[in-house]
Amino acid sequence: MAKQSVLLVTGGTGSIGSEVARQALASGWAVVIQGRTESSVNTLLSALRGSDLEAPVAGVVADINKKGSVEDFVVAAGRVFGRIDAVADCLVIGPSEGGITGPFEKTDPEMYLPFVALSLVYLERLAQAVLPWLKSSDGCLLTFVSDAGVFPAPRQAVIGAARAGAIGFVKNLATEVARDGVRVHAISPSFVADTRVAEKLKAAAPDRFEAAARRAGLGLPTPKDIAPLVVFLCGAGAKKMTGQIISINGGLNV
Ligand SMILES: NC(=O)c1ccc[n+]([C@@H]2O[C@H](COP(=O)([O-])OP(=O)(O)OC[C@H]3O[C@@H](n4cnc5c(N)ncnc54)[C@H](OP(=O)(O)O)[C@@H]3O)[C@@H](O)[C@H]2O)c1
Repeated sequence: MAKQSVLLVTGGTGSIGSEVARQALASGWAVVIQGRTESSVNTLLSALRGSDLEAPVAGVVADINKKGSVEDFVVAAGRVFGRIDAVADCLVIGPSEGGITGPFEKTDPEMYLPFVALSLVYLERLAQAVLPWLKSSDGCLLTFVSDAGVFPAPRQAVIGAARAGAIGFVKNLATEVARDGVRVHAISPSFVADTRVAEKLKAAAPDRFEAAARRAGLGLPTPKDIAPLVVFLCGAGAKKMTGQIISINGGLNV
């Protein structure tokens, strides 16, 4: 019998990651979630299992700011079910405000390097750690960027430059590892409703969030709208697709 495919969800305790884990489990994947604290991982595991104590879901705990933690949690995650078929990287890193977004003249160029060091270097370390697993499963690495790296907009010059770096990494890596059977993608949201990030933005700048919601003709997506795309791209149904940066933004940017 074929082994059950295993999805590692990093940032699995977050708004989007937890929904990806839920929908992947419901679609027949075994799931390992990574979260920053034991309590948040355990709370989510209980919710995912519900009354099914045999559900194929497990958790690993890691704060990626700690040296060696990325490599360690990937090894721990791979050991749970003995394989990793896909990674949905839903981790958020770095400041969302305070230096890298906002009117350009009010941003702090010195914040660029720490942000890239955290976000892009983390992604590169994650990719190096998971590639051996994905090569042996013809797997998929999927990460999140944001529309700031795809569609020009005011207030996004610095974070847009950083996101464009991540997009360049995804596309180049996709080209390099396709011959190993590995696929690499990024999903690019803009504003996502029903998330912790959106709640913070609504509190800090309610007008911006409401303006975005009005401009999105299809309505802003929620994690429930994003997770099916993640599960599809990670699975065998998308096995001839790679290197795609897919915006999901309710029609806000086209
Ligand atoms: N939500 C949006 O509006 C939006 C818009 C554009 C792009 N995105 C992108 O979509 C992806 C998912 O976003 P989201 O809304 O689901 O974010 P979220 O709800 O804030 O979740 C972030 C996740 O990352 C974890 N995390 C943060 N710092 C960590 C660290 N140092 N070590 C280990 N784990 C850490 C969090 O753990 P804890 O639970 O312990 O905090 C949580 O699991 C991100 O890449 C984000 O940039 C989101």
